[in-house]
This record gives sequence, C-alpha cells and structure tokens, in this order.
Amino acid sequence: MQTVTHEIADNIYRLSTCVPDAAPGGFTFNQFLIKAEQPLLFHTGPRQMFPLVSDAIARIVPLSKLRWIAFGHVESDECGAMNELLAAAPSAEVAHGAVGCMVSLDDLCDRPPRKLADGEVIDLGGKRVRHLDTPHVPHNWEARVLFEETTGTLFCGDLFTATGNGPALTNDDIVGPALAAEEIFHATALCSNTAPTIRRLAQLEPRTLALMHGSSTQMRCSDALLDLANAYESMLARA
Ligand SMILES: [Fe+2]
Ligand SMILES: [Fe+2]
Repeated sequence: MQTVTHEIADNIYRLSTCVPDAAPGGFTFNQFLIKAEQPLLFHTGPRQMFPLVSDAIARIVPLSKLRWIAFGHVESDECGAMNELLAAAPSAEVAHGAVGCMVSLDDLCDRPPRKLADGEVIDLGGKRVRHLDTPHVPHNWEARVLFEETTGTLFCGDLFTATGNGPALTNDDIVGPALAAEEIFHATALCSNTAPTIRRLAQLEPRTLALMHGSSTQMRCSDALLDLANAYESMLARA
C-alpha cells in the first residue's frame, strides 16, 4: 500500500491510502491536512497506518509542527493514530466537541483534548475551521464535521462513503455510489435527525466536499447533500 497526496483546494491536501481487499474494487482511507500557520489534520488514519500517513504529512509540513488533530468521531480510522501523532508533534492538541471529550477523549488522549462549542471557530492563521456538532450523523453520539471557511471546504467524514479507488476529485455523481455503499455497510444511523442535520450542512453552501472514503468533489455540493438527506429520509420512512 502507498499513501498518495493531492491538493484538492488551496493548501488543503488529501492523503489517500487504498486498501485493496477492504471492499469490492478497494476502499480508500483519506486524511486531510490543512496547511496553515497552525497545521490541522482531519482524520489520523488507523494506528497501523501511522507510518504511511506520517510520511505523507511530512512531505507537506514537518510532522513536529502539526498543531491540531481533529476527526469526526471515535473510530480507529478516524483517530486510531492520535496518540502517535501527539507524541510526534509536541504542541499538537486533539480538538473535538464536548460530548466526544466527555465520553471518550478525556480518557483516551495522552494529552487533554481541547473542547469546542458547537459553531466555535479555530483561527489557524490563513485558514479558519468551524466545528459543528452532528450527533449520530452519520453515526456515533459524538459525531461532528469541520468547515473551513476560506475555501468553503466541508470535511464531511463518512458521509458519502463509497467503495473503489477513484481520483482525488471527481466530477461524477457521489450520491449514487454512497447509496450503493450504504447497501453493503449499513453504516449510517438512520434516525429522526439524520436528514435535518444533513440539510443544515447543505445551507453552508460548501464549495468542496472532502470525503473520508471515496473521491472528494467540487460539483453540486449542496445539492448532493440535499439528495443524500432525501434518500435517508425515504429509507427511514420505509424502515
Ligand atoms: Fe465512522
Ligand atoms: Fe470512516
């Protein structure tokens, strides 16, 4: 396996590793590095992927200069390597919402995490990231997304998860592949706030959707979120 990097928006890099046997056609694990005065990594990758991911980070910024470690929720592909990164970057902090810190991260992190209020912005110096709580969307109580305001990049984590090893950025539809993957994995928590939460994300009018599993896109971002919300609403109604 190898980790490839691609700048998908101004100073926003996608680090992508395809695991061939994780799904038919392969399955990508993507991290996103925001290059700013205070570099931020969104998703650490699994702990066993740390050698690959840390090498990829170091091709873009010195690993020791990493300032913020962020992710959507507590799972190994989201945050499995956070303590390895805390050890490698002495001034790095994990930043997450209050629920995630209370339920898991105050205990799991080797250094205390920074607790963020819903809507709180961290000024990275050249980039600004807004923390948004999205409980149970796509899954887990502590779920959140991150929105980078200067580029309009929504780091939407497991939303739109797709199989395969496509390009870093695609112009193709991402909703159909996401619904096909949902049929395989059943990863999304279908609940009453699933569709309303995704519709709120559409109101951000993101210019890039940065996906953890699959190709990112700059096409029809709000419409894709609305289509996804409608599809989940229909699934919930049928359930
Ligand atoms: Fe997840
Ligand atoms: Fe994931």
